[in-house]
Amino acid sequence: MRFRGAILLAGVCALFASCGEERRAAEQDDLIESEARRGADVWLRATDRTDYDMAWNDEASTMLFQRSRLTEVRVDSAFRLDVEAMITASPGAGLVFFNNPNNPTATVHGAKAVADFVERVRKASPETVILIDEAYHDYVTDPSYASAVPLAIATPNVIVARTFSKAYGMAGMRIGYAVGRAETIKRLARFKMPYNVSVFGVAAAIAALEDPAHIEAERQRNTEVRSFTVKVLEELGCACTASQGNFLFVNIRRPAKDLRDACAKQGVMIGRDFPPFERTHARISIGTMDEMKKAADVFRGVLKPVTTASR
Ligand SMILES: Cc1ncc(COP(=O)(O)O)c(C=O)c1O
Repeated sequence: MRFRGAILLAGVCALFASCGEERRAAEQDDLIESEARRGADVWLRATDRTDYDMAWNDEASTMLFQRSRLTEVRVDSAFRLDVEAMITASPGAGLVFFNNPNNPTATVHGAKAVADFVERVRKASPETVILIDEAYHDYVTDPSYASAVPLAIATPNVIVARTFSKAYGMAGMRIGYAVGRAETIKRLARFKMPYNVSVFGVAAAIAALEDPAHIEAERQRNTEVRSFTVKVLEELGCACTASQGNFLFVNIRRPAKDLRDACAKQGVMIGRDFPPFERTHARISIGTMDEMKKAADVFRGVLKPVTTASR
C-alpha cells in the first residue's frame, strides 16, 4: 500500500501536513481528494511526454501536497526525532509523520517515548492523525523499543505502516500494510488506488509471514555486519549515529558527494544526498559481511583520518 507519497521526501525530519486550523477534518479530506484528482490529471497528460516517468513521483505528489502547509522539524543533536519540537508544532496538523526507526538518521525512540508522544499530540491536537512508519522495525535491537501496533489498535487516529521492502527483501513487490482502528483505516482507504497490490505480492507476503525464522536470522546478520561497519568507520574518526536500521548515518566530515564519487570509482555505491546534512553526513547501506569487508577496504583508503601531519 503506497500511501506515503510526498511525505517520504523529507526523511530527515518529521513532517506535518496542515490544511489550516479553521477547516474541519472533513473539509481537509475533500481538499486533499480534489488535489489527488488534479494529480491524476497531470499524470494522464504527462504520459504523452517523454519524461512521464517522473510525473507521478515528482509533479503529481507535489501537487497533492502543495496546498498543504508542510512543517519540517529538525532532528535533535543526537539525530533523533525531536519529540518536544514535534509536539509543539502539532496543533492543527492534518498528519504527523513519525518514522521509527528514522530514515536516514537510523535512530529510534523507545516504546514509552512513542506512547507519551502520541498521548501529548492527541491532547494538543485531537483531530490530528499520527502515522508511525515502522519500515525498519525488524532491524531494531534496542531493548527500549517496541512496535506501536498495539498503540495503533488501542488509539483513534494512529496508524502504523509496515513494508515488506526491507528485512523481507521484497522491495520490487510493492507490498506493505497499515494497522489501526477500523474508523482510522477507513479514512485512509479513501486514498487507496484500485488494484494497488498484485496477487503475486500478496501471496509472497503471506509466505514471508509464515517464515519468522528468516526475520530472526536477518536481524542477527544485520546486527553483526552493522557492528563491524560502525567499528571500521569509527576507527577512521567518522562518528555514526546510534543505528537501529540496515544503514548507517555517518559524519564523514566532508560532502557526501565526495565519498560517493570516490567510492563509486572503486565499485562501492553510496546513496544520494540527505539535506540538510549532505555537507557532512552520508547514509551508508549495510550489505552482506563480504560486501562490507570490501567496502571497508575502500573506506580506509578514502576516509583517512585527518591528522595535523597530513594537512
Ligand atoms: C521510512 C520508510 N518507509 C517506507 C519505505 C519504502 O516502503 P515501500 O517500498 O513499501 O514503499 C522506505 C524506503 O526507503 C522508508 O525509508
